[in-house]
Amino acid sequence: MIDLKFDYSNALDTIKQEDVIDFQKKINQHYKSLLDKTGKGNDFLGWINLPSEIDEQLITKIEDIAEEIQIKSKIFVVIGIGGSYLGARAVIEALSNSFSHLAKNNNSPVILYAGQNISEDYTSELLKILDDYDYSLTVISKSGTTTEPAIAFRILKNHLENKYGKLDARDRIIAITDKEKGALKQLAEDEGYRTFIVPDDVGGRYSVLTPVGLLPIAVAGFNIRELIAGAVKMKKHIESTTYISDNPVSAYAATRNALYNAGKTTEITVNYEPKLYYITEWWKQLYGESEGKENKGIFPAGVGFTTDLHSMGQYIQEGLRNIFETVISIEKPNNKLVVPSDEKNLDGLNYIAGKPLHEVNHMAETGTTLAHIDGGVPNLRISLPVISENTLGQLIYFYEMACGLSGYILEVNPFDQPGVEAYKRNMFALLGKQGFEKETETIYSRLSIDRK
Ligand code: PA5
Repeated sequence: MIDLKFDYSNALDTIKQEDVIDFQKKINQHYKSLLDKTGKGNDFLGWINLPSEIDEQLITKIEDIAEEIQIKSKIFVVIGIGGSYLGARAVIEALSNSFSHLAKNNNSPVILYAGQNISEDYTSELLKILDDYDYSLTVISKSGTTTEPAIAFRILKNHLENKYGKLDARDRIIAITDKEKGALKQLAEDEGYRTFIVPDDVGGRYSVLTPVGLLPIAVAGFNIRELIAGAVKMKKHIESTTYISDNPVSAYAATRNALYNAGKTTEITVNYEPKLYYITEWWKQLYGESEGKENKGIFPAGVGFTTDLHSMGQYIQEGLRNIFETVISIEKPNNKLVVPSDEKNLDGLNYIAGKPLHEVNHMAETGTTLAHIDGGVPNLRISLPVISENTLGQLIYFYEMACGLSGYILEVNPFDQPGVEAYKRNMFALLGKQGFEKETETIYSRLSIDRK
């Protein structure tokens, strides 16, 4: 039995139930194309069977290396960008104590990230911290040629070798990349790093249940078996029924497309738990990169409430009416804390004294949902009983499968990302990379810059 529930009743002011149910036929066809591998991007469907087919030996290898890293490192740096880091970060932050970097009894390394930007300040500040602590790192790049992580790795490799010497540094580096292609593969082979493979048929943003996500999550001290078990649970449920009435994946894919057809072109994922921030970031990449093409696609945005009710709340309540919300609602917190009573009651809060904070948060959620529905913002709700490895595994698989279906409903290829190349070509031309000479001339004359 899955724990994740999906509710679209609060969208029915904008769309009719039939608009959602009408998608059933398409949904069935698209499940079939995904499972038979006959649709667009069919050579990137390895993620579908990842959780149920993952090899016991691979899990054990990940756990063993994670344990070794935990023993010798206070910090573990994850170098990667996009799908090569967001899934790990999403799960780690969702499961971690919000202040784990300061927690005294935290036995697992603090996870830090690099290669997801090219900021000189960020990277320099990271190096200064790494001067003071024992650390290990993983460099993750499926293509093995992405500029941001390659730069970060070059810098951190130098730092690590200066700190520990070449041999010890080698044992502190784990490379995760393609089985045969790319500069990182070559480098890992030449330097003798231990490696994990990103399967050919799994794209970056669908790779969290491969070593790309599993190694950092295991190093952070979380149970990757439970994460996988959660994904398997969702997979089995999907296999048991495709009906929109019984299958939350079908219902989510159908509803968001019905809303899109009704002019709701922006989906805002909302959370009321700050530790879910990176789940939204992972979701934004998954949906943005999968659907935003051929001048189509729902724009994926994210907010954290109640924080952003004091910034984005005004726009959502009364701005352009092209948005709908999807709330990720957590039924039970992992901690207990009540609002204390106060004799003087100068802040007037005694009316909620003794109430758990979660109840207050939940009332904020219900009140906001109603206000937004009244303001013309349809509301979808994904609820999980608690935040745990198992429920996050369910959520990950739920989102991945719904993304495949949604992309097919939109008639795009949800498994490629041709648009990501445009900025890279310009950057390479501007930096004078070999092979880009013509583009370099064009771009400098376009910018009216004399290159002498
Ligand atoms: O989802 C994707 O395919 C991308 O976001 C990639 O993960 C990202 O561009 C990083 O690519 P690579 O792992 O090849 O360095």
